[in-house]
Parts: sequence; structure tokens; C-alpha cells
Amino acid sequence: MRVLGIETSCDETGLALYDSERGLLGHCLYSQVKLHAEYGGVVPELASRDHVRKLLPLVKRLLSEAGSEANEVDAVAYTAGPGLIGALMVGACAGRALAYAWDVPAIGVHHMEGHLLAPMLEAQPPAFPFVALLVSGGHTQLVRVDGIGVYELLGESLDDAAGEAFDKAAKMLDLDYPGGPHIARLAQQGAAGRFVFPRPMTDRPGLDFSFSGLKTFTLNTVAEHAGADGLPDQQTCADIAHAFQEAVVQTLAIKCRRALEQTGLSTLIIAGGVSANVRLRAVLEAALAKAGGRVYYARQEFCTDNGAMIAYAGCQRLLAGQRDDLGVTVKPRWSL
Ligand code: KG4
Ligand code: ZN
Repeated sequence: MRVLGIETSCDETGLALYDSERGLLGHCLYSQVKLHAEYGGVVPELASRDHVRKLLPLVKRLLSEAGSEANEVDAVAYTAGPGLIGALMVGACAGRALAYAWDVPAIGVHHMEGHLLAPMLEAQPPAFPFVALLVSGGHTQLVRVDGIGVYELLGESLDDAAGEAFDKAAKMLDLDYPGGPHIARLAQQGAAGRFVFPRPMTDRPGLDFSFSGLKTFTLNTVAEHAGADGLPDQQTCADIAHAFQEAVVQTLAIKCRRALEQTGLSTLIIAGGVSANVRLRAVLEAALAKAGGRVYYARQEFCTDNGAMIAYAGCQRLLAGQRDDLGVTVKPRWSL
């Protein structure tokens, strides 16, 4: 089965062609990062309009680069939620319309299921069951995964998502959006131990997270060391970035270890934008190696939003016999 995947839930137009026999045949992505940069965050209406402009030309490019004809596509999978409603509508309408024109089935995919299954696209995919840490701009969740669609939520953030915390801390340090990669880069120049930030909710049992207190702590530290221009000096900014990243990473690692102990499982996958973080990967790799387990993640470009994960997740759902009707329904809020 050959599936066209369409991702438009936020500010990336992602397309991919996945073949259940041959694997990923091609993928392409248009990022709107520059479009939203001057606003310090994603402007929903601008995002929708840009998806409209870019989507169909990208479908054409993908098919030609993958050496595939439209009549070789067996199904269309599009992100149906959660995400920005207008942006989701663009992908859903285009996906539904293409499926209708090509006379093939279409399926709406849960964006976080896409992220969760992205490590399956790698050469050595993890085997079920495993614990998944989903860390994106909108979600921070620990999930027990026993198979496609068999998910049990173990814990989640009660306020900000980990990625959102990275983005907000970056803004405080006058770094561009999305802030995660910028904080990670700056943190490399930071001195370990000059600042120690709190590890929220790790001193009590449970698998939930809270990152809003860490945000306030960061804001206070920045204000305390700010010069005339409202910012601390460059080295202090780097030290703050280091302390912030370390607090998030260690908090996530503590909860992952706890989730593995609680479930008795030894395989962890990390997915979503923050799983691109090199420090997070290193800390979890060391922790899992010590415990005799293993951590899996997608290649860097498939950690953040992309069409490949949607094509893959849609393909698995379709192979299991799931189909959507002709209606175009999107769910801006949708639990996994
Ligand atoms: O999964 P994603 O692309 O979009 C959502 O579904 O939200 O995640 C985007 C988030 C942003 O908050 C971004 O700052 C964060 O992932 N991110 C990172 C890194 N790369 C992206 N956070 C920390 N370190 C990174 N290297
Ligand atoms: Zn995402």
C-alpha cells in the first residue's frame, strides 16, 4: 500500500510517500519559520494561507522526486488534529479532495500518533511494548504503547509543554522562535553549576509534569542579572540556557525512569520536536544503558513536524482496515 501523507497542523507543510513494502519513497517539507519570525510565534491565519499556497505544488514535487505517478497512490493520510484549526483544514480539505479525485481512501491521523510512530521509520525500529515520551511544542506526555492504537496515558504536563517552555525561555534570552534549537546551541557555551534550576514535581510520586514554575524561575534569574539593555551579559545568558536545559532534561529523565520502573518495560522511545535535543538523547541513552534497556528516536528531521510520520501512521491504520467517510472533520483538540 502506497500512502501520501500530509501534515499541516502548525507551521510546516510536510508531504511524504510511504510504501508498506518498500518503505519511505520520498518526503519534502516547507517550513514557515521565516514567515512567523518577526512575530515571535506562529500567526494562525498566516500559517493557513501559506499552507494553501505551498501544499499542491509540494505534492507535485514529491511525486516527481519519488518517481511515482498519482495513479500509483493507494490512499491519502492527513493530520486531522490536534493543531491550529485553519491550518488543519487546509491539509484535510486537500487530502480529502485528492483522495476523491484519485478514487482512493483517505484517513485523518492524530498528529501525536504520527510523532509517536516516527521512530518506526528508522532502520532498527523498536518493538512493542514500550514507553513513549512525547515532547513537542504543544504536548508533554508519557504513554504506554502496546501496539498501533493501543495507548495508555501514564502522565502529562499540567501546564506548559516542554517545547513551549524552551520557546518561552528563548524569548526571555532574546533568541528566535522556535527556541529549542537556539537554547540548545547557547547551552553548549554555558558553565555547568553556576545556576541550578528546579526539577519540578520530581520530589513527589507520579508521572505528571509542570514547567510553568521553571519558566518563572528563568524569568527571575534573567531579571536579576539584566544590564541596561534588559539582558544579562552573553556568558550569563549561556549559563542560564545551560541551567534551563539541564533542568528540563533531568526532569524528563527522572520521569522516564519512573515510567519504565512502573510498567516493568525496558524500551523507551522519545518523539516530538524536543526529542531532537542532543543533551536529552545523551542523558536518556546513559540512563537506559545502565538499566539494561534501550532508547529509540527518529532521525533529527523526523523529530519535528513532517509528512513522513503521518504517511506511516496513516498506512498502519489503513492496513488495520480503518477508513474515514467523505466528511472533512478536523479536531483542534483531540486526546491520543
Ligand atoms: O513536534 P514539533 O515540531 O511541533 C509540535 O507538534 O509542537 O515541536 C516543536 C517544538 C518547539 O517548541 C521547539 O522549540 C522544540 O520542539 N524543539 C527543541 C529542539 N528542536 C525543536 N527543543 C529542544 N531542543 C531542540 N533541539
Ligand atoms: Zn508536532
